Amino acid sequence: MERYAHLFISFSLLFSFLNYSLFVDKSMASPFQLNHDQLNIMVNLSKSLSPYSMSEWNTSDPNPCLWERVTCSAGPSTVVTGLSLSYLGLSTGADVSDFFSILCRLDTLQYLDFSLNNIATIPDSFFSNCTGLSGLKSLDLSFNYFGGPVRNFSSFASLETLDLSHNLLEGAVGTQLSSLSKLKSLNLSSNLLMGTIPTFVIDGRRVAVFEELVLSYNQFTGTIP
Ligand SMILES: *[C@@H]1O[C@H](CO)[C@@H](O)[C@H](O)[C@H]1NC(C)=O
Ligand SMILES: *[C@@H]1O[C@H](CO)[C@@H](O)[C@H](O)[C@H]1NC(C)=O
Ligand SMILES: *[C@@H]1O[C@H](CO)[C@@H](O)[C@H](O)[C@H]1NC(C)=O
Ligand SMILES: *[C@@H]1O[C@H](CO)[C@@H](O)[C@H](O)[C@H]1NC(C)=O
Ligand SMILES: *[C@@H]1O[C@H](CO)[C@@H](O)[C@H](O)[C@H]1NC(C)=O
Repeated sequence: MERYAHLFISFSLLFSFLNYSLFVDKSMASPFQLNHDQLNIMVNLSKSLSPYSMSEWNTSDPNPCLWERVTCSAGPSTVVTGLSLSYLGLSTGADVSDFFSILCRLDTLQYLDFSLNNIATIPDSFFSNCTGLSGLKSLDLSFNYFGGPVRNFSSFASLETLDLSHNLLEGAVGTQLSSLSKLKSLNLSSNLLMGTIPTFVIDGRRVAVFEELVLSYNQFTGTIP
């Protein structure tokens, strides 16, 4: 009888130990684990931003989903869906020339925020040839020093929200944004834009207003069609 009792206790101990180790294993497998490709892209991206004080990106943490400013989708196939690179002093000179080409490989990205930086130039290929970001839904470039004409945004066919306000964009808005057929909100305010109010061809119709269009503090003429 004593022997059985002893055996029983050992079994329960073994069981609780097994349970415990299962529990530990599960908790160690964090819900946010990027695949190898995404992990490498994030590591390369952090290197390309090394001239900036990215102290918030604790790159010694092996899981980029736990870095500040990074949003990942939850679930078994975790991917990076958002990057907030606002207010970093980012100026995208030669020191970060790799940055945009690396970024273009992050093909799961939906939200990208560059607002409140010192960005003056962005390679044209980013706008016209960044096929990896064709799923991007929101791009915020507001409050930078981004000049020249409004670029051809053909890379970003899925954009729903585009904020280019408070920059130095000049000239007219012609058809550069006309490939953005999903656009719901466009903010072009506080630039040096002129010409007639831009129109967009959406579903074969020429429209000027989707859900939100902000054009204030430019020199547009004409009425909103
Ligand atoms: C990351 O950078 C390394 C070294 O420059 C390069 O070999 C690798 O292809 C890059 N990987 C990705 C996914 O960008
Ligand atoms: C950075 O990540 C490492 C590894 O996860 C951790 O040991 C360390 O405490 C973290 N540092 C900060 C400042 O959070
Ligand atoms: C577009 O990007 C691809 C791949 O990154 C590159 O091979 C090609 O040369 C680029 N084309 C232009 C016109 O920049
Ligand atoms: C924008 O670029 C796309 C793809 O390169 C091209 O088909 C389109 O004609 C261009 N639009 C303008 C207004 O330059
Ligand atoms: C630009 O306009 C959009 C739509 O009204 C708004 O949500 C956004 O906050 C504006 N951006 C800035 C920098 O004010």
